[in-house]
Amino acid sequence: MNPIRLDWVARPGRPLRGSLRVPGDKSVSHRAIMLGALAEGITRISGFLEGEDTRATAQVFRQLGVRIETPSANERIVHGVGLGGLKGSNAPLDCGNAGTGMRLLAGVLAGQSFDSVLVGDASLSKRPMRRVIEPLERMGAVIGSEAGGVPPLRIQGGCRLRGLDYTLPVASAQVKSALLLAGLYADGETVVREPHPTRDYSERMLAAFGWPIEFSPGFARLSGGHRLHGRDVAVPADFSSAAFFLVAASIVPGSELRLEAVGMNPRRTGLLTALRRMGADIREENAAEQGGEPVADLVVRHAPLHGIEIEGELVPDMIDEFPVLFVAAACAQGVTVIRDASELRVKESDRIAAMAGGLRVLGLEVEEHPDGATIVPGRMSGGTIDSRGDHRIAMSFAVAAQRADGDVRIGDIANVATSFPGFEALARRVGMQVDTGNEIAASSRS
Ligand code: S3P
Repeated sequence: MNPIRLDWVARPGRPLRGSLRVPGDKSVSHRAIMLGALAEGITRISGFLEGEDTRATAQVFRQLGVRIETPSANERIVHGVGLGGLKGSNAPLDCGNAGTGMRLLAGVLAGQSFDSVLVGDASLSKRPMRRVIEPLERMGAVIGSEAGGVPPLRIQGGCRLRGLDYTLPVASAQVKSALLLAGLYADGETVVREPHPTRDYSERMLAAFGWPIEFSPGFARLSGGHRLHGRDVAVPADFSSAAFFLVAASIVPGSELRLEAVGMNPRRTGLLTALRRMGADIREENAAEQGGEPVADLVVRHAPLHGIEIEGELVPDMIDEFPVLFVAAACAQGVTVIRDASELRVKESDRIAAMAGGLRVLGLEVEEHPDGATIVPGRMSGGTIDSRGDHRIAMSFAVAAQRADGDVRIGDIANVATSFPGFEALARRVGMQVDTGNEIAASSRS
């Protein structure tokens, strides 16, 4: 655990101008390490996210006997051991803050000959794991957890897995991916059906690594008994990291910013749809393909926004972008209503409560619903915000501060490094004002 607590002090800076490239995609980076490790041969990853979450996943696979080299920052060479080549570890496997790491690993480890224990930090240790335990147990896995179905997960080795035809009760790419990864080790066919389509990186990457898989939005089917073949993976820039700048440039008058080569997988870009419906001015240029994924430069200019309603299919396509969407809504004309987003309550923090609470501190009226919120825009004052140790809450309030009337102090920002190392420097470079504030000894934390 980080020995000190870092805070930010953020306030209006200059209009956002210039050009920047955000770090690599977190979802793709996790999966590239995992499939690279389980493949035969070598996988070279470029654009790898040097975040704590993705580094934790790499460390877990090292602990499981996989050689992973770091020739330079943002690059990894994974020496695959094949599906049956992982070696058990007596020590717990630490996924840090990463729900993706832990849930996908649960699928991989359910199919091994050895026992494993998966642990995480304080936030991950509160997150629901029954959503993966139940279907994996139906496939034949044996997984213990703490009361309430939370980590640590104790995964028994030597279980024979069988395929499953499963309809997800909640739209979750993590659960889908856990089942597909377990399906690699299962006898027969594994089919996953989703209530709303979610990001399909696992499916695309399994196909790219040579595993026969059939998939379409909301559906995936594969059988056990094949092999993965190592290959090069070029990780696109993370749309979820670009999202903070899309909103910041939209709400600060005079801004015009270029975000270079952003990953544009349609299951990730729901925020673009929402912002455009709100009146945002965002152009796509230089559309290209990188490592099998669509990418484009996004050129965003300040524009007056208006409130909208967000619900249904759009929700999973922007599931990680709601914190910053709350900020866009706070700066719009007219109310914004969010529904069908109860999953936000079980992310790195309860993101509905965190954003509603924080915006209220800044003087806004926000009504919480079990599955969303109604945000009434208005002038924002300064204030002290509790980020609840959640990276996306911290960065969202740094964006909100660009339109506040006073200093916004954002507490407990260390976890920004889980997904977006270097956010503060990049934000400052393009005109935002964000500074590291006080450092409080961990012992004085409440
Ligand atoms: C992710 C899926 C999403 C998302 C998370 C990353 C993934 O979680 O919120 O940040 O890489 O599969 P859920 O699948 O739980 O919705």
